[in-house]
Amino acid sequence: MSEDATPQEAWQAVDEYLMDRLVAEDEALATARESSARTTLPHIEVAPNQGALLGLLAQAAGARRVLEFGTLAGYSAIWFARAVGESGRVVTLELEEQNAEVARENLARAGVAERVEVLAGPAARTAAELIAADTEPFDLVFIDADKPSNPEYLAAALSLTRSGSLIVIDNVVRGGHVVDEDSDDPRIHGVRRVIEDISANPELDATALQTVGVKGWDGLLVARRR
Ligand code: SAH
Ligand code: DHB
Ligand code: MG
Repeated sequence: MSEDATPQEAWQAVDEYLMDRLVAEDEALATARESSARTTLPHIEVAPNQGALLGLLAQAAGARRVLEFGTLAGYSAIWFARAVGESGRVVTLELEEQNAEVARENLARAGVAERVEVLAGPAARTAAELIAADTEPFDLVFIDADKPSNPEYLAAALSLTRSGSLIVIDNVVRGGHVVDEDSDDPRIHGVRRVIEDISANPELDATALQTVGVKGWDGLLVARRR
């Protein structure tokens, strides 16, 4: 790599090197990632190596049921659907009908439509419906929708999980802005508040890692219910 590569160029080159060797994206995953261009928020899906990490976490946890806040094109949902296997189930919550439709196409192409339910509408409402319906607990919840609502999604996740379940939250570093306590960005507030809530909850063991790569500088939080 050239001496004067920018940090982003260097992170990108390393991500490409690692993904080239370790992360096998088949045609369905690659098409889903590209189709994110047809959503309302193009290309904010997780990177391939992050998707693979989510799948490995789900498998390591022995997850059979996964709940996702924020579907976009269904890219991370495909990783989860493959991780839970044929008899597993993924429920994914998406505000925009347009994105839900793109996701359903991608899930069908990936051969996992039968085990994934895309619920369109505001996640606060669809999650409340799952709680009201006394849905069987989820083994892993991935929170990756509108950041200001992170604290509400954590509360819903706590109602929809069991002892031992994992709760994973995307985008907790946001280019370092997570430490700006005076930020007037409601997304930063949402991230900081959910971190405070986790910190104050004796039921949760948690950590978070900063990440750099094709998606820039961000971070992933992993919590487990005692
Ligand atoms: N998890 C996806 C990316 C999700 S991007 C992946 O990695 O592949 C965030 C998604 O949250 C967007 O599709 C956006 O439309 C959705 N979203 C935003 N506000 C929402 C809300 N109130 N309820 C549900 N989904 C919401
Ligand atoms: C945003 C949301 C995401 O889930 C993400 O991975 C990156 C950016 C956003 O709302 O800006
Ligand atoms: Mg995200």
